[in-house]
Amino acid sequence: MSILFSPVSIRSVTFRNRLWVSPMCMYSAVDGVVQEWHHTHLTQFASGGAGLIVAEATAVVPEGRISPRDVGLWNDEQRDAWVPIVEAIHARGAAAGIQLAHAGRKASTWWPWADERGSVPESEGGWTTTAPSAIAFDGFAEPVALDADGIDAVVEGFATATRRALDAGFDVLEIHGAHGYLLHQFLSPLSNLRDDEYGGSLENRARLLLRVVDAIRETAGDGVPLFVRISATDHADGGFTPDEASLVAAWATEHGADLIDVSSGGLVAHQQISVFPGYQVPLAETVRQGGRIPVTAVGLITAAEQAEQVLVEGAADAIFAGREWLRDPHFALRAAHELGADIVWPPQYDRAHWR
Ligand SMILES: Cc1cc2nc3c(=O)[nH]c(=O)nc-3n(C[C@H](O)[C@H](O)[C@H](O)COP(=O)(O)O)c2cc1C
Repeated sequence: MSILFSPVSIRSVTFRNRLWVSPMCMYSAVDGVVQEWHHTHLTQFASGGAGLIVAEATAVVPEGRISPRDVGLWNDEQRDAWVPIVEAIHARGAAAGIQLAHAGRKASTWWPWADERGSVPESEGGWTTTAPSAIAFDGFAEPVALDADGIDAVVEGFATATRRALDAGFDVLEIHGAHGYLLHQFLSPLSNLRDDEYGGSLENRARLLLRVVDAIRETAGDGVPLFVRISATDHADGGFTPDEASLVAAWATEHGADLIDVSSGGLVAHQQISVFPGYQVPLAETVRQGGRIPVTAVGLITAAEQAEQVLVEGAADAIFAGREWLRDPHFALRAAHELGADIVWPPQYDRAHWR
């Protein structure tokens, strides 16, 4: 009996399996509105058997976009464009999630295949970025430190984006608290030098994230699963640590989060990461604290047996994969086949089911 292909329920949502699609920016939106590309991209994973598909980092306010081509959810046109995508995901039996995000000092940058690197100037559609402190990410423009009103506006942005996400039909919400974006910038002492109630102690550095969790839970009500993606280490001296991450994870769940999606890094350019198959699984296991905190593992999990083993060993409760889904949008069908798990295939594909 495969754990990977056994269903799991969180609040009002039952996921058909535990092999999920990790959020992946496509840098292909126009004015924050999803396009035909996003439709094909996301729905193929639902045909391919994913239990949950979490759509890419979606900016809750315009200045929270990583690049001018990012998806946003600060107006109704952006909300409405999601509806057919979410419906198509549901029609194929998968749950639909969305990652709500603010890029902070890593906003207003060029998309990966642009000819240029670093910050996009205002003359070319860029904007002034904001952060906990006026400290630039190496190679990017210096941000403006948020004042109290600016912080309140960020929280409000997450709440209104939550309303729109639920109105568009999403089942799951994920807060992007990882990869060096705004909420992570608040968590890490390397990017947060504030001397008010949002800086200094871990309680203070976690305050904004927990306010966002509170605001989303209040807006969403009790039925909606809420995940928080964190970077459980900065991979840099003096940065956010796995022990701090475990504490923040516990607080986030006390505030109404259901699951911590454990990633790492992205805060500083001088991080020292050693990358190998399953390299972030030990971090997930640490944050899971023996099963007290539901977690997902992500990062170079590319094979059925490997994913199954992470769950068998109790290191995580479900698996997120990113790039393997890009290589094979039918990763879950293939993985089930390899594990001999008897899942329901799309009837159109059934002739490829057993032989
Ligand atoms: C094209 C691409 C875009 C990504 N965009 C996001 C994103 O929007 N939000 C996020 O949290 N992680 C993002 N990531 C990281 C992935 O979600 C995932 O954590 C990472 O790729 C490691 O998993 P993998 O080895 O299975 O790909 C992105 C990764 C890729 C390859």
